[in-house]
Amino acid sequence: MNGNFTFHNPTRLHFGENAMAFLADELAAFGPTVQLCYGGGSIKKNGIYDQVVAALKAAGKTVVEDGGVMPNPTLEKLLDGAAKAKANNVDLILAVGGGSTIDYAKAVSVSAWCEEDPWQKYFTRFEEPTCRLIPVGSVLTMVGTGSEMNGGSVITNHAANLKVGKVFGPAVFPKFSILNPRFTLTVPRRQMVSGIYDIMSHILEQYFSGTDDNTSDYIAEGLMRSLVVSSRAAVKNPENYEARSNIMWTATWALNTLIAMGKSTDWEVHMLGQAVSALTDATHGMTLAAVSLPYYRLIKPYGLRKFARFATNVWGVSADGKSDDQIADEGLAALEAWMREIGVAMNITELGATEAMIPQLVKATFRLNGGYKQLTEEEVAEIFRQSL
Ligand code: NZQ
Ligand code: ZN
Repeated sequence: MNGNFTFHNPTRLHFGENAMAFLADELAAFGPTVQLCYGGGSIKKNGIYDQVVAALKAAGKTVVEDGGVMPNPTLEKLLDGAAKAKANNVDLILAVGGGSTIDYAKAVSVSAWCEEDPWQKYFTRFEEPTCRLIPVGSVLTMVGTGSEMNGGSVITNHAANLKVGKVFGPAVFPKFSILNPRFTLTVPRRQMVSGIYDIMSHILEQYFSGTDDNTSDYIAEGLMRSLVVSSRAAVKNPENYEARSNIMWTATWALNTLIAMGKSTDWEVHMLGQAVSALTDATHGMTLAAVSLPYYRLIKPYGLRKFARFATNVWGVSADGKSDDQIADEGLAALEAWMREIGVAMNITELGATEAMIPQLVKATFRLNGGYKQLTEEEVAEIFRQSL
């Protein structure tokens, strides 16, 4: 490990079938008014809403309803929610849902008392909050983003054709998160698979960077191996609790800052995917899957040894008598076969993108420099062409 770092993750997690029993204790630590954020209604159908409201009532809380958080939450929704939080002087924002709802709750937390335009401050200038923050807690119902234990918040500004993620520091992480794998069993198959690929992409994008011998990379390999085994089992039988619970725990550790410690990270696949989402509103994990293989095949020569290591350590590719290039190709072929097996989107056309959109997609793609190669605009365009 060559890096210097401080690791601090303040989120308290309650995991397992009995995790909801801890919500009462957590609620007791906050004042009387709770903004209850949730999505388009899945929690009303599967009974999670009733359980949460019962806990809030038992704790004597006044509930400020804030439903209708859409997948890929928008700036308009954020501004409405922030106004609501301020007007009701809420003491806690309780997000019940997936990454969209939790990301939104964090954005409301930093925007409610912000004197400036939140889009400009956080999602354009990437500044840290300087105002009073409203604490956030979460009950996770959909697995993938890691939002339950990190500072990420991704907001879509349709007027600007941009989807932008801001990574806030520990003050904005959820104070607590309730992780009951049973709550995820009603997630539709396509959404489950999208979440699985999102997890894989988070790990890959922290793994494919750096050249030192780094413990973070060994942890990443272990997480990927667990994910491959559990995802296969979950796709065969989505009711498999053991598989679903492993996936839930893997997702949390894939993006709670741990495996980024002491190394550089790439994140270009997320930049490419977010551009696709900004223009098509497609499901997050699917946008990542659709651009990944052209991206990795393009950068492979610049990080060849790591791609060969990925093949042997994650996919069990035999290295005997082969060049690094051959081994690396077999690793990417194994990744592709797994993607097809679990059923992710393999191109951006099926997500609604067209060739005519490529100039706009290129414009919406941030080109980062933490990976093995910083892309040129022409390379970004080429990746999108190959992803059609
Ligand atoms: O809205 P409802 O009705 O709840 O339905 C949701 C939504 O349609 C449904 N769902 C969630 N739990 C369910 C369920 N349906 C049935 N049963 C349940 N138990 O699933 C759909 C997708 O939910 P969403 O929250 O959008 O999914 P996800 O968790 O993948 O979040 C995606 C958002 O997170 C951002 C993405 O960009 C995207 O905006 N990300 C956040 C990150 C972070 N905080 O660090 C990092 C990620 O890379 C990602 O960028
Ligand atoms: Zn993601």
